[in-house]
Amino acid sequence: MASKYIAPSVLAADFANLQRDIEMINQSDADWFHIDIMDGVFVPNISFGMPVLRDIAKHATKTIDVHLMILDPDRYIKTFAALGSNILTVHYEACTHLHRTLQAIKAEGMKAGVAINPHTPVSLLEDVINDIDLVCIMSVNPGFGGQSFIENTYKKVSALKEIINRNEASTLIEIDGGVTNKNAKQLVDAGADVLVAGSYVFKSDHQLETIKDLKSLVNS
Ligand code: DX5
Ligand code: ZN
Repeated sequence: MASKYIAPSVLAADFANLQRDIEMINQSDADWFHIDIMDGVFVPNISFGMPVLRDIAKHATKTIDVHLMILDPDRYIKTFAALGSNILTVHYEACTHLHRTLQAIKAEGMKAGVAINPHTPVSLLEDVINDIDLVCIMSVNPGFGGQSFIENTYKKVSALKEIINRNEASTLIEIDGGVTNKNAKQLVDAGADVLVAGSYVFKSDHQLETIKDLKSLVNS
């Protein structure tokens, strides 16, 4: 079985000690940096923007996975490429011309991701599944860290996996929100490839160990 990835969400880091937290992820068994960008319009919160991402990218030694929770993300595709994003994920609900947006992301040399809110059915992605490198299934309503996991997510993962297999696509499934050691194994068993974890990692007193345990749990 292909290896499963862990992507700590920097949203839960200590922003006054950001370099320390970036180095912790560099040293850890984690695979990706998950970076949440919020505009206060698409979601009811504002996180951080370009200068912060630029400085994270200066220190990060792993894949940079950017999750845009913003309206009309096409405006910033080139900017995020220049800032060092390796994967750029846009929300299905924020894109009028999703197919065009996906091509524009790839044209900048990035992997193209699509995130879907808890109410958005995975079936809506069937006609573009071969154009998507990663689907991010939101397992909480986007906008905040530290919320509890929505149980209906397992069903969505299985349904999406079926669509991916039926279309012989190589799309990765990422889960974002409320991930802990309590749901991680069931998520990968249902077909998930990448687990984002914010609070679960950063609230831990033993962050490196928590990441190591999560990584070995999902690859066992
Ligand atoms: C929520 C963000 C998530 C968030 C996850 O809008 O997209 O990436 O940081 O945080 P936890 O793991 O605390 O739910
Ligand atoms: Zn996210």
